[in-house]
Amino acid sequence: ENNNIVVAIDGPAGAGKSTVARAVAERIGLPYLDTGALYRAIAWKLDREGIAPEDGERISQALASFRLEFIPGGLMADGTDVTAAIRTPEIDRIVSAYAARPEVRGALIELQRAQAKNGLVADGRDMGTVVFPEAELKIFLTASAEERARRRYKERLDRGEAADYDEILKQVVERDNYDMTREIAPLRPAPGCIILDSSYMDAAQVTDAISSLASRFMEQERR
Ligand code: CDP
Ligand code: CDP
Repeated sequence: ENNNIVVAIDGPAGAGKSTVARAVAERIGLPYLDTGALYRAIAWKLDREGIAPEDGERISQALASFRLEFIPGGLMADGTDVTAAIRTPEIDRIVSAYAARPEVRGALIELQRAQAKNGLVADGRDMGTVVFPEAELKIFLTASAEERARRRYKERLDRGEAADYDEILKQVVERDNYDMTREIAPLRPAPGCIILDSSYMDAAQVTDAISSLASRFMEQERR
């Protein structure tokens, strides 16, 4: 029996990728890989060390000895639990400039592929296009910018944080543009992907839709 499929989920900020990918992984019994967390942890480290996104040489040096390790529900960076520290508005603001660097992307390719030995559900920007081009199932999950900003806004309020909808919308659109127009691994639908617009779907509906597609691929693998 072989259930080792790769489900690759890409899309813009706030589309619901991590919420849905985590739920799909649990439903179909595969590990979940949050690749955004890896880019966020690198941005966190380089920013703390005062290394600018333009400084490719110092980025390479810093990453040569940088250790990232998944723990249940989170991420360790050089032995520090950074799970909460990488989810701040400040990291939201700076992460894309670091993620555009070839030194940064190159450092993460093998780490990501190494997680897929027994299949997985992975979400990010280049899962279907670059990291897992052979994935059995590729989803491009999107929603209108206004709806995605609304989701982010609601998340902040639910956490008891102050939030400004217009500011969130502006930042989400800026980050998407940055991710879509960079030279290396830009955000775009992968060849052969299914484009899913979740503007009018809740997370449970999206989870059901992707899980049933994934289950069908797992059935095929077993035959
Ligand atoms: O959750 P949200 O969509 O806001 O962001 P994320 O998935 O945690 O990713 C944060 C940033 O990391 C993105 O805006 C990209 O710049 C970068 N990223 C990337 O370049 N490639 C990936 N596979 C995942 C994230
Ligand atoms: O990872 P990504 O940035 O694509 O989105 P997320 O961090 O999963 O955030 C999506 C937020 O919108 C979460 O608060 C979800 O509960 C909510 N949501 C969703 O994920 N999917 C929908 N179809 C509707 C709402």
